[in-house]
Amino acid sequence: MNARDSEAVAALLQQHGYAIADSEAEADAILLNTCSIRDLAEQKAIGKMTALAGLKRAKPSLRLGFLGCMAQSRGDELAKCLPGVDLVVGTQRFHHVPEYLDRLFAGKGGVVDVSAEQGSESTVKDHLDDGAVTALVSIMQGCDMHCTFCIVPQVRGPERSRNIGEIVDEVEKLVERGVREVTLLGQIVTSYGRGVVPRKLVQLLEAVHEIKGLERIRVMSPHPKGFGDDLVAAYRDLPKLCEHAHLPVQSGSDRILKAMRRGYDRAKFLRIVEKLRAAQPKMVFSSDIIVGFPGETEEDFQETVSLLREVPFEQAYLFKYSKRRGTPAAEMAGQVPTAVKEERHKRLLAALNETALRKNREWVGQIVEVLVEGQSAKNAQRCFGRTRTNKGVVFEGDLRHKGALLPVRVERATVVTLYGVPVNKDL
Ligand code: 5AD
Repeated sequence: MNARDSEAVAALLQQHGYAIADSEAEADAILLNTCSIRDLAEQKAIGKMTALAGLKRAKPSLRLGFLGCMAQSRGDELAKCLPGVDLVVGTQRFHHVPEYLDRLFAGKGGVVDVSAEQGSESTVKDHLDDGAVTALVSIMQGCDMHCTFCIVPQVRGPERSRNIGEIVDEVEKLVERGVREVTLLGQIVTSYGRGVVPRKLVQLLEAVHEIKGLERIRVMSPHPKGFGDDLVAAYRDLPKLCEHAHLPVQSGSDRILKAMRRGYDRAKFLRIVEKLRAAQPKMVFSSDIIVGFPGETEEDFQETVSLLREVPFEQAYLFKYSKRRGTPAAEMAGQVPTAVKEERHKRLLAALNETALRKNREWVGQIVEVLVEGQSAKNAQRCFGRTRTNKGVVFEGDLRHKGALLPVRVERATVVTLYGVPVNKDL
């Protein structure tokens, strides 16, 4: 979501006559988009800004700004404790950045703007014309869930959905530019359209599915609870909807899930997995998991390890619980010591890597459909793309095939990547 917000601000600035600098040294202004999800993300942004403030002492004309979630939650405080900061812009005001930068360059002084704005969910819509084959499209903002660990409802506000027509227009324009795969984004996409659209996310998926030239659709992130029968059926009925479900489970322990206020227990979660697998047998599952939530015992943690293996999750983001201001979990008894969180994180990562490697190796010798995205980041001689199940594939290809769906025979697999050769090498 932050990558998408940053891109939209960059695109707006370009339209406004600004150019994206190649390096920090060349820039007249540097804007940091920030995340509040864990303390570590905030510390990183503060550390980075402190370093930039040092750069500014040598180059006083440099303008510095904080955007996004941390800007939203800390507002004024940021400008006060970091004197070099000129601009603080919250999550509903991204589209005002160009005019605020104009103000700064006109010498009119700094701006702190973390106000709410009606309709702001429809303002993150501009894209850089960078020839990319995949694109992120924001379909909604905010979350009404209030899980006890999570700061997102505070920093992103209540759920607000864009309308279907607007989203379809945006995707159509992207497809005209060469985009073949879109990821429909929101903090809780399974709540899309509540109060706006009658059949909600499924109706949006059906409308986007109609767009000619678009090959693949993904959604990020759903809530497990939101997989009603109609959404499950969409994975069977809409061929462009990729057979990959990101299901943030957070924990495998019923006791912890309850304390997190997730709205499902382990058995219900597994029923959702089975429903999806029944609709789409090739479905691959990924997840977000938190270790060390307050009160988590070794037994609770073992339930999480066993759930990861039972599903199995082939990819997951693993987080150490981080206390967030103003959330119920921050005040709960039984906070888990850092060393214990670190040790559980390590063990869970080992279990994940083992599972991922085993599942990835099952592909060796098989043919996968790869959407060719471009060069491999590590080896310019190779191409990179993804399978429908969201696995990264590095292969001996030709950039002529950028944007094409290429059958690739998998020869080798690691924890995160498949390696192969196109089936028709003479293509
Ligand atoms: N501590 C650790 N991880 C968190 N997440 C959200 N809040 C916290 C927190 N306080 C994780 C969840 C969520 C992902 C986006 O970030 O796993 O799904």
